[in-house]
Amino acid sequence: MRQGFRAGALTISDKGAAGQREDQSGQVVKTLLIEAGLEVVKTSVVPDEQDQIQQLLVSWCDKENLNLIVTTGGTGLTPRDVTPQATKAVIDYEVPGIAEAMRSESLKITPHAMLSRAVAGVRGRTLIINLPGSPRAARENLTVVIPALEHALAKLAGDPTDCAA
Ligand code: MTE
Repeated sequence: MRQGFRAGALTISDKGAAGQREDQSGQVVKTLLIEAGLEVVKTSVVPDEQDQIQQLLVSWCDKENLNLIVTTGGTGLTPRDVTPQATKAVIDYEVPGIAEAMRSESLKITPHAMLSRAVAGVRGRTLIINLPGSPRAARENLTVVIPALEHALAKLAGDPTDCAA
């Protein structure tokens, strides 16, 4: 990975934010991103509250100028799951192939993969990717995306070179 890409790992969990559950998924995300060569400069745990999620995403995009934000949690069907709604409210456009790839690969592991409403999209020069909340699901989904991350972040940062390998 080209040096200098700065990332944030945001865990979205009522129990995590209340200190009732250890943030294992955030740790998984952080470790995988560091192993992929990114600098993880921000980590946080917020409850499943759409306003709080949006505020943090906007701040990490517009003030911290992160290249990448990976969220974990809140993508399912419970009444408290609002991460995709919050993400859609702040992005300029979706990058549907990222979520398509994650669900498609995850369906080879579990039929429950179709229950994640995770989205990926761009706000300004920041790529935001939702992952499901369990440590296992976070790892399985992020592993699908990592091979395309460097190219995605380079293009988003304005790399004008041709895409052909
Ligand atoms: N994807 C993978 N690869 N592995 C998993 O174990 N769990 C699924 C799904 N995606 C899972 C997965 C389950 S059980 C749910 S409910 C949804 O992600 C949403 O998870 P979330 O509500 O924690 O975000």
